[in-house]
Amino acid sequence: MDKNRREFIKNSCTLCAGVLGLSALLPALQSCVAINTLQLEPINNTFKVPISSFIETSRVVVIKHNTLSFPIALVKSDITNYRAFELKCTHQDNGLGVSNSGFFCSMHGSNFDLNGRVQTPPASRNLKEFKTILQTESILVTV
Ligand code: FES
Repeated sequence: MDKNRREFIKNSCTLCAGVLGLSALLPALQSCVAINTLQLEPINNTFKVPISSFIETSRVVVIKHNTLSFPIALVKSDITNYRAFELKCTHQDNGLGVSNSGFFCSMHGSNFDLNGRVQTPPASRNLKEFKTILQTESILVTV
C-alpha cells in the first residue's frame, strides 16, 4: 500500500470516528437542556399551564400532580399549537424520561418523538394524548 493511500484511509477513518462520536453524543447533549417541571392543581380534571412556563431553550414542560399516575409532557409544537402526552411507555407501562428531542424508556429502550410517535420499538403504540386548548396566556390540558 502506498503512502498516499495509507494516509487517505487513516484520515477518513479519523473523520468517521469523529462524526460518529459526535452524533452519539447529540441526544445526550440535547437532554442536558433544562426542562421545566410544574406541580399544578387541576380544576375539574384540567391543568392550566402558563405559556410563560416554557423557557426559551425548551419546547417541553412537565406537569405533575399526585392524582396523576404518570406525569404529562406538554409540548410546544409552534406558537399556536401545544400537545400533551402521558409519560407512560406503551410497551409495559414504565415511566418515560424527557428530553427536548423526545421521550425515552429506560426499561427496554423504546423512544418516542415529540409528537408522541414510536421511533424505536419494542413499544408499538404511540403515547396517549390529552386534549389541549390554547388561551391568551395559558394552555388548558384536560385529563
Ligand atoms: S416498558 Fe418501555 S420499552 Fe418496555
